[in-house]
Amino acid sequence: AKEDGLEAWLRYAPLPAEHVKHHPRFSQIVALSEANSSPVYTAGKEIQSGLSKILRQKVDVTNTLPEAAQIPASAIVVGTVDTFPSAAPAIEKIKEGVSSLKEDGFWLGARKDGNNGPAHVLIIGQNERGALYGAFEFLMLLAKDEPCPETYTSSPSAPIRWVNQWDNLDGTIERGYAGPSVFFKDGAVLDDLTRVAQYARLMASVRLNGIIVNNVNSHCNLLSPTNLKGLGRIADAMRPWGVRIGVALYFDTPIELGGLSTSDPLDANVVAFWNDITTQLYEDVPDMLGYLIKANSEGQPGPLTYGRTLADGANLFARALKPHGDGIVMYRAFVYNHHLDESNWKNDRANAAVEFFDGLDDVFEDNVLVQIKYGPIDFQIREPPSPLLAHLRRTQVIIEFQVAQEYLGQQSHLVYLPPLWRTILDFDLRIDGQQTLVRDVVSGERFNWKRSGYAAVVNVGNDSTWLGSHLAMSNLYAYGCYCWDPTSDERDVIQDWTRLTLSHHPTVIDTVTQLSMESWPTYENYSGNLGIQTLCDIVKTCHYGPSPAAMDGNGWGQWTRADAYAIGMDRTTATGTGYSGQYPSEVAKIFENPETTPDELLLWFHHVPYTRRLKSGKTVIQHFYDAHYDGAQDAQTFPVRWEALRGLIDDQRFKHTLFRLTYQAGHALVWRDSICNFYLAKCGIPDEHHRVGSY
Ligand code: GCU
Repeated sequence: AKEDGLEAWLRYAPLPAEHVKHHPRFSQIVALSEANSSPVYTAGKEIQSGLSKILRQKVDVTNTLPEAAQIPASAIVVGTVDTFPSAAPAIEKIKEGVSSLKEDGFWLGARKDGNNGPAHVLIIGQNERGALYGAFEFLMLLAKDEPCPETYTSSPSAPIRWVNQWDNLDGTIERGYAGPSVFFKDGAVLDDLTRVAQYARLMASVRLNGIIVNNVNSHCNLLSPTNLKGLGRIADAMRPWGVRIGVALYFDTPIELGGLSTSDPLDANVVAFWNDITTQLYEDVPDMLGYLIKANSEGQPGPLTYGRTLADGANLFARALKPHGDGIVMYRAFVYNHHLDESNWKNDRANAAVEFFDGLDDVFEDNVLVQIKYGPIDFQIREPPSPLLAHLRRTQVIIEFQVAQEYLGQQSHLVYLPPLWRTILDFDLRIDGQQTLVRDVVSGERFNWKRSGYAAVVNVGNDSTWLGSHLAMSNLYAYGCYCWDPTSDERDVIQDWTRLTLSHHPTVIDTVTQLSMESWPTYENYSGNLGIQTLCDIVKTCHYGPSPAAMDGNGWGQWTRADAYAIGMDRTTATGTGYSGQYPSEVAKIFENPETTPDELLLWFHHVPYTRRLKSGKTVIQHFYDAHYDGAQDAQTFPVRWEALRGLIDDQRFKHTLFRLTYQAGHALVWRDSICNFYLAKCGIPDEHHRVGSY
């Protein structure tokens, strides 16, 4: 088989013959759906294709059960709670399991007919999407050579499990590291959307159900009549996989496209303009998710430009969507001034989201959701969770992650992200003195929300690996798993991914698991430590490679405030920017005091001398030196350990990955030396082990 990466974890590699015989021989697939565009129909086809590859069984698909609603012997039947004939005796017995399903959930079970008779498999979705997810679950179990359980019920933690693509209409992708867009080219939607459907298939297999297809820094060119038709085609390509689409909008579209003199959200003509555009969009995309809005951020116009509140801006779009269905506004909390004055020690970009959104909790329309990046700055290697997550109670939220490793090595470095996500999702915000894990806020459980959940900037491109690196795809796979169940175990997830993607061989599974589990701490070690942020080059805007000097002396507010004696941002309420006070009091108290602040966030919250002792007993500067040497050394082992896979996986993916890991090992040395020498030059304190600056 061609191992170019396009199939990712859905390769359905054939099981060895001696294993195939442990699985039933299936007689037929019944997909209870008439419409070819239905995810249930897709599920039938997918099962057919999976069986032919994994078990080498050729099985026909039909769309109805024979008379008397009997389940034929050895059949696989997939449908929804509504289409499954409730008269079927098999269904009677499992009614309870099925009735507890949440939206998009599924019931899956293998039953014996009689004592030891042929098995049949039932897959019952709470809706059509759920049926498709159940089908994928069934196939992935087979691909992992695991038995189908007798009864298995699964429901998502949150209804919103979406992807954001930052694709531009000209085919480029902002922070995309894997070639041009699979959606757009030369200002228009591509004619051939094969890759879009393949992407939707991958998304559906990990139960992601929505996507924003264009860049948050968008322009109005998406809204031309031809492109609206194109959006309709994108939606058509993704719909059979249960994936709905939405779009990012540019706030000043009324001026630039509509020829109006203003984009003031309270202006009647502006309101009419957006109502009209929305009506047009729904003609082409009748099940549109809604709008993603980046406004008053990084130079983008927004309601504040017109003297209005952020809520006025969000509600403008929310009201335009309302008459058409369940569309929502994803209003990004990433609102900040990027011309901050560093000479003022009270200034702090991290404060911005809470400052801008406080007081608005009660005034948003109910279909406005605030989309909040996991940390208050910008997808850094280590951040505390955004305190805004503790401020909104009536306004539902979406948490934003980033699979595109913008500051994390851009898929040229292996960084398996779930351990980082876990530090956010498991964080206890202690709202009102009660346990409040971020994941329970996001699921809607804490404040009884109906619609909330997850978005991740993914940025797949036209490259046959999708993300530019085979191993980076484990982050997309894991992202889906975490949206569904944020308590997923990161080891289990990477092991499953490896089995599905690469091989069942224990050496392959162990090596990939170990490298992945070590990758985030390793990258943190050789990039930015103790909460100082990633230290990438932010001035050249590439956000790649070491450039600690770039962090300060500009208006972006990602400051480290490093001088000859001390380093870190004083974010205390006592003497600093007051940021720590944005957390609920129990958390604020911990971060207010350098003694109780965990080492890994020390420099995030405190401006301390390089000679300050950490809980480990090391000084801050010695920790920098040691961590960089340790991290760089660990990275040297990655390509060497990967060598163990030679001959155990196909050559193409083996070599592609070896190349990346070898590059990473080299770049880790560049990181180590740049960062260590920079801080040695700053503070003049030598490395106790005489490594830094000694050549
Ligand atoms: C980062 C990123 C930008 C992006 C922005 C956003 O700053 O570098 O490219 O536009 O985040 O999330 O809006």
